[in-house]
Amino acid sequence: MKHTHYIRQSYLFCKYRNYVLGIQKYITGRNVLEVGPNKGNLFAQYYPQTKKYTLLEPNGHFEKFYIKLQKKHPNLHYKIGGFEGYDADERFGAIVMMAVISHIRIGSQAIFDKIDSLLEKGGFLIVETNNTKRNLDVFDLLDRNYEKIEAKASYGGIIKWLRIDYRNVMIYRKP
Ligand SMILES: C[S@@+](CC[C@H](N)C(=O)[O-])C[C@H]1O[C@@H](n2cnc3c(N)ncnc32)[C@H](O)[C@@H]1O
Repeated sequence: MKHTHYIRQSYLFCKYRNYVLGIQKYITGRNVLEVGPNKGNLFAQYYPQTKKYTLLEPNGHFEKFYIKLQKKHPNLHYKIGGFEGYDADERFGAIVMMAVISHIRIGSQAIFDKIDSLLEKGGFLIVETNNTKRNLDVFDLLDRNYEKIEAKASYGGIIKWLRIDYRNVMIYRKP
């Protein structure tokens, strides 16, 4: 699978998103799973503060970026594969799913069930909507079953003002 340059993974853009999102407190000290991380750059600045950080990404093209990141971050792990078939012999204290829900091909209930099976009690889900409507029912299921801690626009400042992007990021806690 090829990939083209993706601005959301560029250094300054990641810095900007980290500043807007402020998720550090939800992942510090935790065993974290990030689904669909692309190059893995978005939360790389927080890897050292986590107990363990696992990237789950179906596009093998990104593997070389993960190997490079692992040299700097020994607690970084990765698996090449989709969320649909993912199973782990561990549970996670936080799961990160940024702009990936609409890419998953198993339907909303199955997506929720899999998140629920992977997340520890009291764990956090950091999840971003997509610009398309596919699988949006996942968010209804999360609203009904989890505690919503935060909801914010993915972008502030000029991008929000120009109305270029309508995504939102939600933080949920599994009761
Ligand atoms: C829109 S990009 C978002 C990338 C990154 N999360 C970000 O916010 O910068 C979607 C990512 O999800 C990955 N992806 C696509 N289908 C997937 C699946 N079934 N399971 C897990 N990840 C998937 C893509 O390869 C890509 O890295």
